[in-house]
Amino acid sequence: MDRRYRKTIIAGNWKMNGDTAHIKDFFKQIKSVSSAAKNIKTVICTPATMIGVAQTASKGSKIGIGGQNMHFAENGAYTGEVSGKMLLEAGAEYVILGHSERREYFCETDEIVAQKLRYALEVGLKPILCVGETLLQREQGITMEIINKQLKVAFLGLANDSDAKKIVIAYEPVWAIGTGKTATPEQAGDVCAGIRKCIRELYGAKVARAMSILYGGSMNAKNAEELLSQYDIDGGLIGGASLKWADFASIIKTACETE
Ligand code: PGA
Repeated sequence: MDRRYRKTIIAGNWKMNGDTAHIKDFFKQIKSVSSAAKNIKTVICTPATMIGVAQTASKGSKIGIGGQNMHFAENGAYTGEVSGKMLLEAGAEYVILGHSERREYFCETDEIVAQKLRYALEVGLKPILCVGETLLQREQGITMEIINKQLKVAFLGLANDSDAKKIVIAYEPVWAIGTGKTATPEQAGDVCAGIRKCIRELYGAKVARAMSILYGGSMNAKNAEELLSQYDIDGGLIGGASLKWADFASIIKTACETE
């Protein structure tokens, strides 16, 4: 990480987990940890129905609340869907887009992710855009090719640099998510550097230098330090280990102490 130019972000992705009691207890514990870590932005992405409870529970802290998905339209006949505007109204500041579980189970293409990205920016949400390769793609040696395509399609049609600046990117190798298999710090660092290079080509050095790029995929209290020590890794998107406040607190503290 390089805090001279970009924000360090430690974000929890709770996926389809949690309830009101869990949220209340979690925030009670995590608020002081987050406030003490002044140079870190803490974000918790809860299921959409719990955003309001999380927002209330986070009062008095600077913890950002986020959704995990949204539809690309403002409203309409899309049974079961939630729009970006609705997330915002519920109290979200961030939204995860293009997570590999959405790409895999809900057939989200790069083009759909691009539409969502544009709409999220339009309503004023801060997108956390997920990209990453499968194990097969890594073995075939096409990791950066896949990620560059995911990035270029997602960024197509963004109005200008100032839109690009609002985006956070999360590199999440699909084979490392929820598997306990973490990318080595070098593997993760190399891809994050590749992502920054792609952003540099699209938007220039200044935007690339200022963009926060997170690593996600079995990050935990034990491996956080070596991952966060990589120059191009500016934080983490953490699934399993973000559900237990003590583990998550430990990652925040590690991020705070890592240069
Ligand atoms: P994990 O999930 O930390 O449980 O691997 C990360 C994610 O899916 O964002």
